[in-house]
Amino acid sequence: DSTADFIVIANRLPVDLERLDDGTERWKRSPGGLVSSLEPFLRSRSGAWVGWPGVADAQVEPFEETGVQLHPVQLSAQEVRDYYEGFSNGTLWPLYHDVVAPPAYHRKWWDAYVKVNQRFADATAKIAAEGATVWVQDYQLQLVPAMLREQRPDLRIGFFLHIPFPPVELFMQLPWRGEIIRGLLGADLVGFHRPGGAQNFLWLARRLLGLEPTRGAVGVRTRPGLVPVGDRLVRVGAFPISIDSAGLDTLARTREVQARAAEIRRELGNPQKILLGVDRLDYTKGIDVRLRALHELLAEERINSQDVTMIQLATPSRERVEHYQQMREDIERGVGRINGEFARVGHPAVHYLHQSVDRKELAAFFCAADVMVVTPVRDGMNLVCKEYVACRHDLGGTLVLSEFAGAAAELTSAFLVNPHDLDGVKNALQAALTVDPAEGRRRMRALRRQVLTHDVDRWARSFLEALGTQSNAT
Ligand code: G6P
Repeated sequence: DSTADFIVIANRLPVDLERLDDGTERWKRSPGGLVSSLEPFLRSRSGAWVGWPGVADAQVEPFEETGVQLHPVQLSAQEVRDYYEGFSNGTLWPLYHDVVAPPAYHRKWWDAYVKVNQRFADATAKIAAEGATVWVQDYQLQLVPAMLREQRPDLRIGFFLHIPFPPVELFMQLPWRGEIIRGLLGADLVGFHRPGGAQNFLWLARRLLGLEPTRGAVGVRTRPGLVPVGDRLVRVGAFPISIDSAGLDTLARTREVQARAAEIRRELGNPQKILLGVDRLDYTKGIDVRLRALHELLAEERINSQDVTMIQLATPSRERVEHYQQMREDIERGVGRINGEFARVGHPAVHYLHQSVDRKELAAFFCAADVMVVTPVRDGMNLVCKEYVACRHDLGGTLVLSEFAGAAAELTSAFLVNPHDLDGVKNALQAALTVDPAEGRRRMRALRRQVLTHDVDRWARSFLEALGTQSNAT
């Protein structure tokens, strides 16, 4: 049987095809929070995943990977430029992240977005069993729900947005705002991380359909969280995503990870305190903010580079998109400046790695770090902070977290900061570095209670339950 009852559609497959310089190819795990959350969930139930293999013109037949059927969707080099780098990451990404960088509006990019969304919908329509559940992921594929419904009204269609849904005033800038809203309303359930995003969407959907919040202009009464579309009711709600908390907790307890964590500390010369940042190299992540805070703290001698060392892991991301290139240069200049002024030979003040590291190594970094610094100016959820917490079974380590990450609503025992308030960030870093151990443990215990009880499985189950399908994950 070549059809599937449960299908995830995301721009990327969970694995990414890498072309090496010698012309050979190999698969590696795809970057980003979406994949690290959904992959363990999907592995626990048999399903299919429709997505792009991550390079242009890759002709790959469907194949199976750890129990998941992967169905590659091919993109040309031009489509990668216009649909992925262009409309997805040059228009939607900055627009949805509060225009932290100016979004660009190009009709050519939009045309590619429509065309590629159609291709994802067609590929899925072909492999979905009668009455199957299809779960469409993220901003790259917002037209897919309506396109899929058009061909396959028998399907149960859910959509989840992994990034913030912007305030109405910003969304209204988009020349294709009506098309996007209509695309999303093709789903039976549209999910967001935060209630604010769901509210923004509800308001826009009702306005577009000419409905008042409580009484329809055409006599249709609406109820909270529901949008009537023809003879259907579309549900809208908030479902905060999470991580495979138990899996990471177990990994962090292994002797191998613990030994590696101790080794990392030794390699750094056993500093008293280690600050850690882990991000995709993205301008929304506020890496520049924490570097500036560190620079000033060192310059004012509130901290000393002999005692405190910072590690910044920056996973390469979207390297051909202009804002990313500019930001990389700024950050690398910032690192150079701090080291120029405060490093000693053999002892950099900031260790900067523009590389991706595997799960085990990452867990070891989390275990080695005294203060985890997460300072995005805007972030749908941010999973790195939850991963840090899941790794700290020893109740060691403190978390400095931006109020503008979706996770801040759950992780209230972190040192919460406004990343635009540099003095506030500096004070929080200093407070986290000097926290009384008992107070640190109290905070970490509270954080762990939240993260261990609200894991990705619970997120997926609650979404699928709301969608009206039974999750048989065990
Ligand atoms: C974010 C997005 C994902 C995306 C990931 C990695 O988490 O929400 O949809 O896959 O970043 O970005 P990339 O552009 O490399 O897929």
